[in-house]
Amino acid sequence: MTAVGIDAIEIWTGKLKLDLAETFAPEKGEDPEKYTKGLGLHASSFPDAHEDIVTMGANAAHRLMDRKGLRPDDIGRIDVATESSFDNSKPVSTYIAGCLEQVYDGDFHHANKGERKFACIAGTQSLDDAYNWIKAGRNRGRAALVVATDTALYARGDPGEATQGAGAVAMLITEDPDLVELSTEQGYGSADETDFLKPNQQFPSVDGKRSMQVYLARMREALEDYESVAGDSHPDDFAYVPFHTPFPGMVRKAAVLAYRHMIRDTPIEEALAEDIGFQPREDDFEDREAYEEAIRDHMDELKATDAYREWYDEVIEPTLDISREVGNWYTGSVHIARAAALKRAAEEGRDLAGEVLGVGSYGSGAQAEIHAETVADGWKDEIEQLNVDEQIANRYDLSFAEYENVHDRHNHDKTIEMEDFTVPNGEFVFTGRGRMNERIYDYVA
Ligand code: HMG
Repeated sequence: MTAVGIDAIEIWTGKLKLDLAETFAPEKGEDPEKYTKGLGLHASSFPDAHEDIVTMGANAAHRLMDRKGLRPDDIGRIDVATESSFDNSKPVSTYIAGCLEQVYDGDFHHANKGERKFACIAGTQSLDDAYNWIKAGRNRGRAALVVATDTALYARGDPGEATQGAGAVAMLITEDPDLVELSTEQGYGSADETDFLKPNQQFPSVDGKRSMQVYLARMREALEDYESVAGDSHPDDFAYVPFHTPFPGMVRKAAVLAYRHMIRDTPIEEALAEDIGFQPREDDFEDREAYEEAIRDHMDELKATDAYREWYDEVIEPTLDISREVGNWYTGSVHIARAAALKRAAEEGRDLAGEVLGVGSYGSGAQAEIHAETVADGWKDEIEQLNVDEQIANRYDLSFAEYENVHDRHNHDKTIEMEDFTVPNGEFVFTGRGRMNERIYDYVA
């Protein structure tokens, strides 16, 4: 069977930065460690005045197409995943194609374009759609371009304000990919939930604490569903497990839950039992509440064991390298987690080809998906092309007053003028609105 997967990836971060410990915490009267240690976040990325979901997505796609020597004729499908769209009819992919047509000969008239929505999991769903399209043999030799782009803003004062972020990930999906091959084995956990939603409003209505419980419940279901096709999973199965990362603290909670599940009835559980006992089994408890309390206590002990710490440091922690500097990118978040892990492996000189990643995607509302990916032979050359460290380092560091203006500038209900903080250079920029209120873009060489 032909391998299909991600051939290349590019990342574009919003060009502004809000430092959570230095700038945000003092204004909120909070201990900086609530953000850096509790949530695990150092900074958020924000779009400059000339940036939005289209420019960030188009800039990531442009870098990717240039690097791979692609022309519009090589791409048969453009899917954009976003939950920050500004139009209920015209998809963001048409705007991105329009931008790219400004800089390439030819056009994308032959390309099927769409926009995927299911909160943060839409990025992975677009990947699945592209995979299925190629596997079905409908691609006529062409590749698919998947762009996950979001400006993850919360209302000012919402507890989610500390987890904001903005950026885009562009991925090229092809046969015989250079980066990772997607597996046919997938598991889902999906339920009608009211934890985070935007009923025709820009900023989400969020039940923050509940959203974390729903994340964990759906992720657990997805893991069980995954195991029903792939067989029991074991901590040694995966070189890395990139999770959807609204903030690293959420991943810490998901990781210990996954580890506990995977070691159940294995020699690892037996060895740990000497120190912390066996995992509580529900059948041994009279009521659910007592069982859940016992599980919570057990997980606190499990988290502190050397076995868990070593696994976490090797398999999970590297996935957080980018996200802790940029915040939540919604649809792009799990894809920067994968990129961060591969980047760390390259920096450490690890030979990863043939190893497996377990990818845990999630979207509020709510759905989790777990699938496996096999790292392809060309992964290192691909991942070494990323300049995300440079982009992160070059962001303009906002004062709190500047941050307030930036938030207003990107608030759809406000129209405020704001000078650019950075000078556009070799990128697409937003220049204003046209007669039908459409957004207009230009390329600044
Ligand atoms: P909060 O209530 O302000 O924070 O907001 P908190 O008081 O719960 O503190 C956060 C953590 O910091 C806690 O750690 C504290 O103990 C710790 P935990 O106990 O949970 O491990 N802490 C400290 N640590 C060290 N030193 C200190 C200190 N103080 C406190 N001094 C909340 C947290 C997540 C509710 C908020 O950020 C929020 O509402 N976020 C938005 C919703 C969200 O991100 N949910 C995550 C799951 S849902 C999801 O991922 C989907 C999403 O991406 C959307 C989509 O799919 O489209 C959001």
